[in-house]
Order: sequence, then C-alpha cells, then structure tokens
Amino acid sequence: MKRVIIFDTTLRDGEQSPGASLTSNQKLIVARQLEKLGVDVIEAGFAISSPDDFKSIQAISSTLKKTTICSLSRCVEKDILASADALKPAKRKRIHIFIATSPVHMRYKLKMTPETVVETAVKSVKLAKKYCDEVEFSCEDATRSKKKFLVKILEKVIKAGAKIINLPDTVGYSYPDEFGEFFRYIIENVKGSHRVVFSAHCHNDLGLATANSLSAILNGARQVECTINGIGERAGNASLEEIVMALKVRFPEFETGINTKQILRTSRLISTLTGIFVQPNKAIVGANAFAHEAGIHQDGVLKKAQTYEIMRPQDIGASQSVLVLGKHSGRAALKKKIEELGFKLNDRQINKVFENFKKLADKKKKIFDDDIVALLGKEFTKKTAWQLLYFDVKTSSKGAQAEVHLEKNGKKFRGKAKGDGPVDSVLKAVDSITKTEGKLIDYSVNAITMGKDAQGEVRLTVEINRRRFFGSSSSTDIIEASILAYLNALSKYKLKDFPKMRQSL
Ligand code: KIV
Ligand code: ZN
Repeated sequence: MKRVIIFDTTLRDGEQSPGASLTSNQKLIVARQLEKLGVDVIEAGFAISSPDDFKSIQAISSTLKKTTICSLSRCVEKDILASADALKPAKRKRIHIFIATSPVHMRYKLKMTPETVVETAVKSVKLAKKYCDEVEFSCEDATRSKKKFLVKILEKVIKAGAKIINLPDTVGYSYPDEFGEFFRYIIENVKGSHRVVFSAHCHNDLGLATANSLSAILNGARQVECTINGIGERAGNASLEEIVMALKVRFPEFETGINTKQILRTSRLISTLTGIFVQPNKAIVGANAFAHEAGIHQDGVLKKAQTYEIMRPQDIGASQSVLVLGKHSGRAALKKKIEELGFKLNDRQINKVFENFKKLADKKKKIFDDDIVALLGKEFTKKTAWQLLYFDVKTSSKGAQAEVHLEKNGKKFRGKAKGDGPVDSVLKAVDSITKTEGKLIDYSVNAITMGKDAQGEVRLTVEINRRRFFGSSSSTDIIEASILAYLNALSKYKLKDFPKMRQSL
C-alpha cells in the first residue's frame, strides 16, 4: 500500500472563501473534528495575517495531540517568526513557506528577479529550519512556471532542508495529463527528490482540482492539499472527500489515514459554521449524492445496491437520520448523544444545550442527530449582546408590518417597521433598535431534517461599512431564525475579537 498524506487547508485556504471567516473558537471545533476525521496535517492559518489567525494557530497547537499543525508564511522573516511562535505549543509542527515562481508573478507581483527569488527562498528555508524540522516549501503558481527554473530552485531548497515540496496549481489552469507529466518531470529531474515528499495543491477554476490531484498522486505525489467541501479562494480547492473516496473506490493501492465515516459529519460542520451551502449535486456530500430519482434506478438499487451505487452511503457516515431523543429524554441521554456526535462540552454548556433541547422538544416531536448538531451550532456561535424577547409580524400581499422586542444588558427595547415581506420588516425593526443598518446581501433558508415541523436553518450575509458578516441560526419558526441569524451577523460586526481584515498575500 502506498500512503498518501492528507493535508487539510480548510482553516487557511478554505477560510479565504469570500465571507467564510470563522472565530477562533469555531476554528478549534473544526480542528478537533479534522483530527477525528484522521487528516495528517492541519494548516491552521497564516500566523502573520491577523492576530486572530495567530491566536487560533496557538490554541489549536496547544489542544491537538496527534495531528501535525502547520502555519503558512511568505518568504519573509517576520512571517516565519510569527509562524514559529504560534506553533510553539504544538506536539507536531510544520512551517509552510511559499514564494511565487512564475514569470508573471515574479515580474509584476514580487518585482524580483528569478535569482533573488532563489536566494530569498533558500534563506527562508534555512531560517524556518531553526525553529521547526518539518519545513514545507511551495512554488506559488508552479504550473505556469518554467520547469527548468523549478528544478533549479527546488534543488537548492531541498539542500537547505525543505522536506515537503508543494507544487500548486494556484490558478486552476492545468489539466490532468499535463499535471501528472509535470510531477513526473520534476521528480525525475530534481536532484535529491527521493529525500522529500512531493505534494499537489489544486484549485478548481476549471473544475479539475480533484482530477488533477489524483493525476499527481498517480505520478508520484504523496501528499495532497485539500479542503472540506472544496471551499477556498475563487472556485475553491480540491475537495478532501472527493480525493479520499476516489482513492478508496478506484485506487485501493493507495491508503490514507482518513476515517471516511466521519466525512459527512465534517462536511456538515464546515457548512454550518462557514455558512457556505453544499450544492445538492456535489459529489460525495451533496444532499442528492446517494438519492435515486429515476424509477429504473430505484428498482435496480432495491434489487441490488451496486447496480447504481459505486460506494455505500454508510462509508461516508450517512445513516438514515436517526431518531435520537424525544420530549422525555433526560440530560444524561443528551450528554451521551453529544459525545457520540463528537463534541466536547463543559457542564455549563451541556445545561444550556439541554435547556434549548427541551424548548425544541416542546415544538417538535422527533429530534434527530441533525437537530442536535444545529443546537450545538447555536451554542458555539458567538453570543450576541441583543436577546430576542418577542416578535409579531402581520403580512399580506400588500406588504408586512413587524414589531420586535430585544433586550440588552437588562434594558428592553421595542422597534416597529414596515417592509416588503415578513423577513424584510422584522430585520428593519431590528435595525431601528440596534441602529446598525446592515444591507442583506444573501439570504437562504433550508430545512434541517424532514417533516413539516422541521427546524429551518437561516443563513444570511450582511454588509456593514463595506465589510461582510455571515450569520446563521435555526428554529422551527423561520422568522425567528431570521432575526436570530441577523443578530448573529450584527454581533460579529460589534465584536472586537472578530477576525480583522487580513493582510493581503
Ligand atoms: O494556491 C496557492 O498557491 C497557495 C499557496 C500559498 C500554497 O495557496
Ligand atoms: Zn491555494
């Protein structure tokens, strides 16, 4: 069996998806779940880019025990020192440094000659080695770089101590045959290549990220960099679940450390926390990935699943949404369920979730795993200073009128507004109280589980002072969920510790 290292960059490249910012607390939850999923390396952030990234890398480094924690750095001294500092508590650590190597990037972005790029890269690898034995070096825009130049710079950085060589298809330009040949050429021509692990990092601009990653593996790469649900810059990164399941189904000679039964749960967690929906027809984790609509297909699957299923839903942890708890379930049963779902909560948090669970059980007869995950999502969401006390909305084809009551620091406030519809009017009523006028950029509502009494999950994006904030919440009443999601987004604007705008790369 050939082992492929799974390098997860959901918390770094994935978090670069527009509007996907996570708080440090949320990043820690994701990191714990990624460890459970069995990824080998977690790129926890870009330490120099913001104080919040630095803190998250530090917190994740202090918490995880098995997984290697990695921080990204440019070939700049202060970046490398920040990464080294943030990674100090980690049991296993890696500093990832990168510099662009394509003519267009060197000339117009870096304004450096190729010779200076080589010198800077070597100096940076040597500096990083003083703090961390495992140094990864990436040639940004490798696929549009001159191969001879890549051979030259790679031989030098390997000599300087780099242990992992990453060749990113930064702009998602390559295609599978070309990318595979590219790896073969580099591995065959770089002196010292047998001493390092080659890695692929693919973007999905042409929808080829998974195919390119697989082609790299078939041609010698032994690490792939990917994200959950394929989130990331522009069209995203190669999707972890697609690569892992493609290897499992089609290339069993390759092995990963992934516990595939954790895939769906991880996908849902990322989607809930980032607010980025998974398209229904997305491979592996989309809602329709295992749904059979055509009568002939349904008939075939009932007779023999393999007629139309190349993998089993159970392989990715998809069981029928199980009835878990009901109105009469106690605190201990809920605690056990939460632990089974992979979350660690202290007593105070359990009590809070239990309180919300009881309220939900009063409104909804059957409570499923996904309902519990939604309650946990609420608990792990940054608390807002504004509490919703009451709302009333009257709506007709002529428009809507709303009244909302909020409480802040023990003081009660009342707001009224008219709007185009119930959501518009309640959000305007909130604005009249909070005096923070947010422009709604995006709004969606989805049922969390089945049934008419299902909880609706509202996700929205609000723009305030040209910055975008994502908010989410759930409730059996979608108007209530909308108000809570809106308050959640507004609270991020108000919070001092919410990630500051990143320094651009
Ligand atoms: O896409 C890219 O080139 C990157 C590097 C920083 C590794 O994300
Ligand atoms: Zn990238």
